[in-house]
Amino acid sequence: MNYRHGFHAGNFADVFKHAILARILVYLTKKDAPLRYIDTHAGAGRYDLAGEAAQRSPEWRDGIARVVKARQPAEIATLLRPYLDAVGPWDDEGRPLSYPGSPALAQALLRPQDRIALSEAHPEERAALVAALGRDARLSIVGTDGYVALNAYVPPKERRGLVLVDPPYEAPDEARQVETALAHALAKWPRGTYVLWRPIKDAREDARFLNSIAALGAPNLLRLEIDVGPVAPGPHSPAPLRRAGLIVANPPYGLIEEARALMPWLTDLLARTGEGAHVVAWLTPPV
Ligand SMILES: C[S@@+](CC[C@H](N)C(=O)[O-])C[C@H]1O[C@@H](n2cnc3c(N)ncnc32)[C@H](O)[C@@H]1O
Repeated sequence: MNYRHGFHAGNFADVFKHAILARILVYLTKKDAPLRYIDTHAGAGRYDLAGEAAQRSPEWRDGIARVVKARQPAEIATLLRPYLDAVGPWDDEGRPLSYPGSPALAQALLRPQDRIALSEAHPEERAALVAALGRDARLSIVGTDGYVALNAYVPPKERRGLVLVDPPYEAPDEARQVETALAHALAKWPRGTYVLWRPIKDAREDARFLNSIAALGAPNLLRLEIDVGPVAPGPHSPAPLRRAGLIVANPPYGLIEEARALMPWLTDLLARTGEGAHVVAWLTPPV
């Protein structure tokens, strides 16, 4: 386990993932009934963008900094507000005082009646996570493998909620593990909302992944992708990522319309050379 999210915190892929995650949490918290947020690969919770990792790899400059410094049309500003409220204040360079990972985002957007279940296998990242989130009666943080924890947590007793599966993709078979995890979780909890993040590096491998996910036979699978175009190599990313995708199973009604507004704006903003592209499409039809 060499992956440290601090080298990538606040980059274009984080902005894309966290902006969509925030929209889903906003929808799910419209009803008073409690919900459970499950994060299988939680990371360190919050990231110091002035710290060593971010200084050695300042990917946030082409991610969150662009967003906070951009002029946002009214519709976009409304959609981004919950996310940017969780990000908090930033300096003149567009650097937030600290950047919230997915657990901190959930902590900010969920309510007292909700529960937050986090798995983080790396001991140092887990210690940072515990410190970043502080005392919070809604929280449970374990060091168990994220897929094992997912199997134990679903279905949650609230029968409402969101699962984020956001592994580091260090293992060559990680995409297959994600497929298997989704298949098992959907079999136990077909109505849960699931968000699966993935890097897209190889078009053939990604087509195989999408075919396998579609072949699970579940309806309501939404496909969101962003491509920011060619990226110059950096000290910690010799072949930097330019494309990332989310599969959202059982997205809240209305999310696709919001994604249709948000994704073109984010893509134009985050694409480095004007060669950006995005996808907002059903992988399997809604029912
Ligand atoms: C991409 S980062 C998570 C980022 C976080 N979800 C966010 O959006 O802020 C992946 C994390 O998974 C952790 N990890 C690696 N293998 C794991 C496993 N088997 N179970 C749980 N966590 C694991 C890594 O230590 C790393 O912190």
